Amino acid sequence: MRIPLFVLLALGLSILFSDTHQVVAEESSATESSEKDIAKPGWYLGRRIARTMSFHGADWLIRNSREREEEPQKLIDALKLKPGQQVCDFGCGNGFYAIRIAPSLGVQGKVYAVDIQQEMLDLLEQRCKARGVNNVLPVLATEEDSGLPSDQLDWLLMVDVYHELSDPGKVLGEIRKSLNPRGRIALVEYREEDLTVPIKPLHKMSQSQAMKELTANGFKLVGQFDGLPWQHVFFFARDDSPRPSVQLRAWKASEIESEGPQDAIGGAADGKKQSDSGRSR
Ligand SMILES: C[S@@+](CC[C@H](N)C(=O)[O-])C[C@H]1O[C@@H](n2cnc3c(N)ncnc32)[C@H](O)[C@@H]1O
Repeated sequence: MRIPLFVLLALGLSILFSDTHQVVAEESSATESSEKDIAKPGWYLGRRIARTMSFHGADWLIRNSREREEEPQKLIDALKLKPGQQVCDFGCGNGFYAIRIAPSLGVQGKVYAVDIQQEMLDLLEQRCKARGVNNVLPVLATEEDSGLPSDQLDWLLMVDVYHELSDPGKVLGEIRKSLNPRGRIALVEYREEDLTVPIKPLHKMSQSQAMKELTANGFKLVGQFDGLPWQHVFFFARDDSPRPSVQLRAWKASEIESEGPQDAIGGAADGKKQSDSGRSR
């Protein structure tokens, strides 16, 4: 049976521009693009930008399997949060991380929960209220204005967000202003190099691409945590921070699978991969 060309085209476009992260088709790697793509709208430094995940899909962010796939407590432990700290969950969605972080900061500390979709912030507020969490401050941002205070943040956590910022340079400029001199970004993205991670390539990032984009915008690498099942974790600080910079440790599948506890630069935890990480969601 012959399938009409317009049906194939529509199918291709819906796969390409779908805002789900599920694996439905192999896409060409975003980092394979040529340098001439840099100036194209929708591209940044050779990487194709993913579409913003809509609030209509917010339930996916609190799916039961997420605990197993991401082991969020390991990430939070690696941050070594202290009471009184000012932390931002940037692109917080419905607050999967903001709500988990809040208790570590105590009454003096605060989570700025930033998102560009009011609907996500409404869901976050409902979830905070239901759990009696009251040190999370919802902040509605735009690409131009993050709504964050200047020179103040100890940590800015960005989980599964960076790859979908429509103007990464502009947002990184805003973030840089908000960090205090010792403040750090924890940038968390699904590993592009890892073919067993069942997430669309457009929603993953490679180590080299993350380094390229952050260093181009006034940040230096000050730590790395390799203990999560599916994600890279980079710690970046302002390039004028007194924190010393560190060399990137290249991710290797065999290392993560065979090594026991990972003595990550800037953190420590055990780095075992999940046995079922190859399945598609
Ligand atoms: C895939 S969701 C991840 C949500 C959350 N970080 C989590 O891990 O559950 C990405 C979120 O980033 C938000 N976002 C995208 N661009 C943004 C921007 N420029 N500023 C703030 N939030 C943004 C989206 O609205 C969406 O809620």
